[in-house]
Amino acid sequence: MKKGFVFDLDGVITDTAKFHYLAWKDLADSIGISIDIKFNERLKGISRMDSLERILVHGGKENEYSLDEKEALATKKNTHYVELLQDLTPADLLPGVKEFLDEAKANHVPCVIASASKNAPFILEKLEVADEFDAIVDPATLSKGKPDPEIFIKAAQAIDLKPEEAVGFEDAQAGVDGIKASGMFAVGVMANEALHGADIVVKKLTELSVPELLQK
Ligand code: BG6
Ligand code: MG
Repeated sequence: MKKGFVFDLDGVITDTAKFHYLAWKDLADSIGISIDIKFNERLKGISRMDSLERILVHGGKENEYSLDEKEALATKKNTHYVELLQDLTPADLLPGVKEFLDEAKANHVPCVIASASKNAPFILEKLEVADEFDAIVDPATLSKGKPDPEIFIKAAQAIDLKPEEAVGFEDAQAGVDGIKASGMFAVGVMANEALHGADIVVKKLTELSVPELLQK
């Protein structure tokens, strides 16, 4: 029996990957690095600074910037990204998300956000679902990003559960790997590319029922 749900945000609750991509592409162009939508798949679930590192390595420029300069580049990307988020509304929730969260609440199932994004509280406010969650793991408190299981272990702790008692939802391979490494049951969501190792893969949350998942 499962007793709690742990959600990734970007790609599970709402589709922000297109905004991350636009902002990273602009930033990369400005320093002479070209990235495409396929490369962007490799940034899903990866923290802001680790994403920048991957872009610099991709462009062969990993040794060209000091830490201060890298922080300035990451801040520039984030300022652009946050501008792109201003128009988010509840209509940007992915299909079935609101209904699924409401069904979880009706079944007294605690829900937690385990996202690498430092913008998660702002995005949840914009989507008007902040109240649906019992906790948000603060990514600033993590020593390692996904695929390390740390964020999922902390998410389970936040609702007084063991990872084995929770179900995790993820759209990125790094996230599915982290969920499985923590011992949680993994639901892969909206995968464009195959998600290896997930216990179930669905296109949308509309395909799932809360009582059925609790039986897993
Ligand atoms: C993850 C996204 O949810 O958050 C990544 O999938 C992103 O693409 C990461 O880099 C960090 O987000 P932010 O908002 O803190 O820059
Ligand atoms: Mg994601």
